[in-house]
Amino acid sequence: MSRIRILPEAIANRIAAGEVVERPASVVKELLENALDAGARSVRIEVESGGKRMIRVVDDGSGMSHDDALLAFERHATSKLRTSDDLLSIATLGFRGEALPSIASVARLLLETSVGGEEQGTRVEFAGGKLVGVKPAGLPAGTSVSVADLFYCVPARRKFLKSDTTELGHVASLVTHYALANPDKQFALKTPTQEIVNAPPVATLAERVYQLFGRQALEEMIEIAPVSAPIRAAITEPDLDEGGRAGELTVRGFVSRPEVQRANRNGIYIFVNRRLVRDRLLLHAIHEAYRNILPADAFPMTLLFVDLPCDEVDVNVHPAKIEVRFRHSQCVHDFARDAIRQALSKARPIASFAVPARPTAPASGGQPGVAAAVAPAPMAPPRAVLPLSDAYPGASEGFALTEAPVQPETQRFAFEAPGAVSPMGVGEQIEAHSGEAAEVPAQYMEAPASATCLGELRPLGQVNASFIVAVNSEGLWIIDQHVAHERVLFEQHLRSRREGALTGQRLLVPIVVDLTPRQRAILEQISEELSANGFDVTPMGPQSVAIQATPAGVPNSDAERLVAEILDGIEREHQAISIDSLQSQIAASTACHAAIKVNMPLDQTKMEWLLGELAKTESPMSCPHGRPVILRYSLREIERAFKRV
Ligand SMILES: Nc1ncnc2c1ncn2[C@@H]1O[C@H](COP(=O)(O)OP(=O)(O)O)[C@@H](O)[C@H]1O
Ligand SMILES: [Mg+2]
Repeated sequence: MSRIRILPEAIANRIAAGEVVERPASVVKELLENALDAGARSVRIEVESGGKRMIRVVDDGSGMSHDDALLAFERHATSKLRTSDDLLSIATLGFRGEALPSIASVARLLLETSVGGEEQGTRVEFAGGKLVGVKPAGLPAGTSVSVADLFYCVPARRKFLKSDTTELGHVASLVTHYALANPDKQFALKTPTQEIVNAPPVATLAERVYQLFGRQALEEMIEIAPVSAPIRAAITEPDLDEGGRAGELTVRGFVSRPEVQRANRNGIYIFVNRRLVRDRLLLHAIHEAYRNILPADAFPMTLLFVDLPCDEVDVNVHPAKIEVRFRHSQCVHDFARDAIRQALSKARPIASFAVPARPTAPASGGQPGVAAAVAPAPMAPPRAVLPLSDAYPGASEGFALTEAPVQPETQRFAFEAPGAVSPMGVGEQIEAHSGEAAEVPAQYMEAPASATCLGELRPLGQVNASFIVAVNSEGLWIIDQHVAHERVLFEQHLRSRREGALTGQRLLVPIVVDLTPRQRAILEQISEELSANGFDVTPMGPQSVAIQATPAGVPNSDAERLVAEILDGIEREHQAISIDSLQSQIAASTACHAAIKVNMPLDQTKMEWLLGELAKTESPMSCPHGRPVILRYSLREIERAFKRV
């Protein structure tokens, strides 16, 4: 007797639901994608109890006919694909035809839809996967899907849901991201007590960022103006092109200024053809772009939009469609990296002093018209829709706001990874981002100064023989002499290395050091590059090496530590290292050891020289390890602190 059976439809749907529907935010994601695919100009989302009790998504899109409204609930029923070739160039957000039957199998679902005009609308009701009613109804054009009591018939699943606040956070985050991807459409997210997102259509991405996050966030970001290039196979990539056809690749978006640092990747958003994805390749490109600008353990915030022809990207690699595969991955990677680098190099901003805020100071105005359109939230008027901690119920009582005057840059931009795109469930990581209510001088922050004015700095003296105090027309500046010099030497060293091999300085007496087996293995791998950087490190016996030469400027006393640092630095990388990043790691370590130290008196000429050299660097605001080089106390901040303005 055969033991293998074809599963009944209802079970198959629930299995599919296991992949597609993880939590309320995943339902919202599917419904939102359907609304956008249906050409909606406006999407309204209502949730109750974090979406556990009720989710309703109302759109003004094409709607469905009576027959389609029923067909939509058949497994693998879709209007978006016809042939398997269509799979190779998917232009819609959905295509699997699984969402509606999956959701209907694990909740109570009411679909109300109408194509408008003469035709009557249709109301279809499902409970736990069973059709319980179909009725004609007079309805406006468009579709409304209400999903109640999610997982009511799958208790095991229900147990995995987090608190209402957490689930709502995921929903808010998700809606925020689709709103970012579609500035020309209207998005609204409401709970019975609160309007969380209210974003009418706008003309630019910048306006949408402003609507959703406020002026402050916008100031912390640098815009990547759209840049396009034909897609080409890289040299290292097998050329998959049959003919000479070359599609266009476009990159645009926002990336955080170098002084903005996050402890995790939650602020990184990548959209490929307006679909929010987690893509390792692009994550890597972002990481590369910030190399030597941010410390290795810090992350930027990005809203990166990559657009390319549909047949250049395979979206059919993940059930929830959160991963993609590029046909010409190297090209996409390098182009994105360079676009971000370019934007970063233009901005060159400088860290500002944190001035204690006056708690009663009015929030800065921005554009009243737009700000007014955004729902007011308890404590951050102009940035009412900060998606999570600031913006949804419970935020004010549930999460203690940080009291300390934390670095203003680090905590203000509260993007969170949406639950729907993270199968691992990042729901528990809602952090206490201190908003305006904390001691952070939000209203004092100005657009960061550009580094172009650095050339006019006049040094006044040193604090503690370590920090140079200087002035110019913009205000008062303090420069960390060690990291400033480090930045100068780093760029010089790297530039010279890229022009050719460097000659080092020979040590009078070689220094013999013992290496760990791991260090020896690394040394073997990179010895050629070390020599080209002016090092001479010769093996001596099974465990030891003799350091015979180091790059110019490195004191003998630092030689041993420098070599160990380079070897250990690479040890930590885990993965294959590119020659580019190897070179910059060597340059960064060398610069650190060759730079003037703190506690070193400098005369006027030396200070002037250092500031002059710093002004010439590409990234004067941070050292190669990502620490700030310069603090600025702007004239305006000084005036405010003295209560003159
Ligand atoms: N909001 C909507 N407006 C119009 N048509 C819709 C809407 N939602 C779903 N549909 C129709 O139902 C079909 C099935 O939806 P779904 O199960 O999400 O699969 P998919 O989106 O992968 O095609 C869609 O292909 C579409 O034709
Ligand atoms: Mg769909």
